[in-house]
Amino acid sequence: MSFARVIGTGGYLPEKVLTSAELEKMVDTTEQWIISRTGVRERRIAADHERTSDLAERASRAALDEAGISPQELDLIIVATTTPDHVFPSVACLLQDRLGIHNGGPAFDIQAVCTGFVYALDVVNRFFLTGASKKALVVGAETFSRIIDWTDRNTCILFGDGAGAVVLEAADEPGIVSTHLHADGKYHELLSVPMGVSANYEQVLKGEAYTQMRGSEVFKWAVKALGDIVDETLLANSLEKSDIDWLIPHQANIRIINATAKKLDMNMNRVIVTVDRHGNTSAASIPLAFNEAVRDGRIQRGQKVIMEGFGGGFTWGSILLVY
Ligand code: UT7
Repeated sequence: MSFARVIGTGGYLPEKVLTSAELEKMVDTTEQWIISRTGVRERRIAADHERTSDLAERASRAALDEAGISPQELDLIIVATTTPDHVFPSVACLLQDRLGIHNGGPAFDIQAVCTGFVYALDVVNRFFLTGASKKALVVGAETFSRIIDWTDRNTCILFGDGAGAVVLEAADEPGIVSTHLHADGKYHELLSVPMGVSANYEQVLKGEAYTQMRGSEVFKWAVKALGDIVDETLLANSLEKSDIDWLIPHQANIRIINATAKKLDMNMNRVIVTVDRHGNTSAASIPLAFNEAVRDGRIQRGQKVIMEGFGGGFTWGSILLVY
């Protein structure tokens, strides 16, 4: 049996910074309201020419450099995204081509909105456990700004664009230790872009495919789900809260992150936070935060990390890994 062990991380943020002060000029809000209710001071917005695959490629190349392997060695590519370049082909296939990989290995996208990266790590772990993959690239990449109504103050203050990537290799030592995925479609209307290829397509054609959210209901659900999923992860592995070195939560709102940390009695200096500078980058938020904390030396080899996500669907889940 092989574990999926992270051997490289990478991240990419578009150059354009949109501050919460600038949003005051766009919608009926204040910088102070945004920062106090969400913790977001600024977020990055992709340039008009930048697509999700461009962001994914930049993050992937950084992760491959860090891993010290050639793209040709990858036998699996999974991209978690809700904002693919096209209906098809997948961003993963576009990325495979950009990286010059023509070895016939599988490449596909996963759509679980903000839990997408967690879902992707679960899937890649199963490939490793069965021996079907030995070196894989997993990316969370979004141009979420494209599905935001920039006149809707309930949503536009929250989201940003970016990409994060990890390269994993089969190893005898952990690795990904356990994965926990959940979904409950009953809540699909609370957070959605309720239009696409086979529903309300005329709105897509008019450029009106926007995120809709009943924020305070999503908030309550997120706090509960993110707290419960950590308890589930600890129980499944017979671990205590104090055994966990780092928590990497999905970066939706600093109040959700604080509430989860409090529920776990976790000091905030053991929680990785990027929401202040990135906003909510959906599937990219966890790998971006992971990359930042690995690169600045906070997360060290051998430490136990819990990643946890929550998003539209609803979907939620967690990963326990030893870095
Ligand atoms: O990544 C997937 C998961 N997504 C999330 O987890 C997002 C979860 N939700 C949230 O982060 C929060 O619910 C929001 C930040 C979206 C909203 O914060 P809230 O504290 O839940 O505010 P609220 O929706 O209960 O609204 C409170 C008030 C309302 O005014 P009234 O009705 O009390 O007069 C809103 O109209 O705040 C108003 N409001 C705003 N005021 C200034 C809503 N948005 C804004 C705004 N600026 N941007």
